[in-house]
Amino acid sequence: MITERLRARTPHSAAESMPRAAAIIRAGGLVAFPTETVYGLGASAFDAPAVARIFEAKGRPTFDPLIVHIADRADLAHLFTEHALADPRIAILADAFWPGPLTIVASARPEVPGLVRAGLETVGVRLPRHETALALIRAAGTPIAAPSANRFGRLSPTTADHVLEQLDGRIDAVLLGEATEIGVESSVVALDAGGPARLLRHGGIPLEDLARVLADHGGAVVAAPTAQPGAPLPGPGMTESHYAPMVQLVLATAAFPTGTKDCALLAPDRAALTHLESLAAASGAMVHGSVALSELLDPVAAAAQLFERLHELEALLINRALPTARIIAAPYPEGGLGSAIADRLRRAAATPQ
Ligand code: TXA
Ligand code: MG
Repeated sequence: MITERLRARTPHSAAESMPRAAAIIRAGGLVAFPTETVYGLGASAFDAPAVARIFEAKGRPTFDPLIVHIADRADLAHLFTEHALADPRIAILADAFWPGPLTIVASARPEVPGLVRAGLETVGVRLPRHETALALIRAAGTPIAAPSANRFGRLSPTTADHVLEQLDGRIDAVLLGEATEIGVESSVVALDAGGPARLLRHGGIPLEDLARVLADHGGAVVAAPTAQPGAPLPGPGMTESHYAPMVQLVLATAAFPTGTKDCALLAPDRAALTHLESLAAASGAMVHGSVALSELLDPVAAAAQLFERLHELEALLINRALPTARIIAAPYPEGGLGSAIADRLRRAAATPQ
């Protein structure tokens, strides 16, 4: 892949580049763009395969939730639930710190792809203050999901050169804009019903400022670090919350797991599912649902729908009130984005019920 360099340093060049950058985003491609904190690697937030390509390009061995970037506060209605939007703290924080380096985490509408949320019930949203970022979101006509535009484990990029050093040939385009102004990522704050706002990641907006504007609404505290089983340490944020299924998930490495009565099956592709089904039949287990993550092994397609499918299987088993039912998953082949999927399945399997 050849990474297009799109000039955006002056208002004039930015205006010329924007239709091209927006077309790439709308077509499901990846565009790196400057924000006031660090460069982000953007994809259309409601296009799950496009979001999966972000993880592929970064070489992230696991899925972390992504921040959704908007240009207009009205776009919150597409991302947060009505219930979440009734929380007065959202308007208070947005009035005080948007546009700017603050990410607000609250309950997500179901349309927000599971991959953007890494399977969580919440989504993080931020309205950046960088003209190029805002122009891209507006021209694309969609919220843009974007992590920092670095390869996994490398430093966050504050110039377009940093981005190209790490991602040249792996992404569709980069907007060559001014160096970023703040140079550290946004502060991430979670709003839960009842209790103070919780700072999940220190960043561009200090805790003291958050606590001050929220003083009459419960204040703000640093989130207590939670050492969840299987969570990668050190994580990119201060705390790592991860999707954990509410029914047991067992990886079928060699044989079909013994003692399985009722189950749902999940496999990397159609052929692997057929194999898993025959193992289940031979063991006498009752299969209540089965999912192939793609027809022919396709990690981008699989990653795009992994969390939705897991939630579906989980709901199916819970609704049928089968207390001993489990999800039996065939391991995902390692390599590239496949390693991220394999990692998430292993973590889900490691979660105590
Ligand atoms: O300044 C920034 O925030 C930059 C620019 C590009 O906007 N973006 C960024 O994204 O730093 P990233 O992916 O490198 O870090 C996102 C972090 C996650 O690792 C997690 O700590 C937190 O934001 N986060 C996002 N959504 C969350 C959620 N639903 N619940 C909890 N934490 C969340
Ligand atoms: Mg990052």
